[in-house]
Amino acid sequence: MLDFQDTASKFDRLRRQAEDLIQLRPNTVPEKLCDIVELIHELRTHQAELEIQNKELKQIRLLNRQLLMAQEQERQTISCKLLDNIAQNLATLKINCETILNSPSGLETDQQEELLHMSQVLQETLRAVRSMGQDLRPTNLDHFGLVRAVDAQCRHHAQQCGLTIEFSAVGLEELPLERSLSINIYRIVQEALNNIKQHAKADHVFIHLVPAFPNLILRIKDNGQGFDPCHVEHQEEKMGLNSMKARAELL
Ligand SMILES: Nc1ncnc2c1ncn2[C@@H]1O[C@H](COP(=O)(O)OP(=O)(O)OP(=O)(O)O)[C@@H](O)[C@H]1O
Ligand SMILES: [Mg+2]
Repeated sequence: MLDFQDTASKFDRLRRQAEDLIQLRPNTVPEKLCDIVELIHELRTHQAELEIQNKELKQIRLLNRQLLMAQEQERQTISCKLLDNIAQNLATLKINCETILNSPSGLETDQQEELLHMSQVLQETLRAVRSMGQDLRPTNLDHFGLVRAVDAQCRHHAQQCGLTIEFSAVGLEELPLERSLSINIYRIVQEALNNIKQHAKADHVFIHLVPAFPNLILRIKDNGQGFDPCHVEHQEEKMGLNSMKARAELL
């Protein structure tokens, strides 16, 4: 870790000493010493600029953290609304359809078929809404911890996209992980899987998660067409890789 304060005071001391020397023996001071003083002055200016940049970087990291936290909060609210209101209402409608279908109501055959179709559409919509709710707020994380939640996420994704996903996590089951850390890793995997689905043209994915105290190593590899991260680095409108990077920096 750079200690800007310490470096700055060393520069100042050095410059003061050199200036004292010049004052003491003005006629004998070699020209070079003046150059050194000049150089120290430049270094000091440069160091002050770095200090400002470092402060700005810290500020950006803090903002990133707050932004990601606000985003999680927002996702949680939307998820609750989806699951508590919309999913509940859809389930009620589906039960109503089935009640009418099962009662001796004297409905025409085509009306019964229509109702059956409605009930199936409601069932599919209900499944999609629940899946969206789970994506927005992965309750698996709270109930089963990071490893099992990521495992479930991989199995769900593999099934949906027709991919083979090999997930392995060693030595993490026993580790107490903060929720903020777990959610960031979960989201990084989620975004990577979405990217693989959208861009990779892959059929095999490898995900490895291992602790390397005090860090965690997460490796995600697919056998698709690949891409050059430097090429997409400056595309500001792309959110996925940027948010993965921001989350990784917070860990
Ligand atoms: N696994 C991958 N295989 C191939 N290309 C990828 C992969 N992951 C990312 N890319 C490339 O990197 C680009 C940037 O990805 P990024 O997730 O940042 O944006 P995006 O997926 O295009 O849009 P979004 O903002 O919706 O995530 C993608 O457009 C794609 O070209
Ligand atoms: Mg993406």
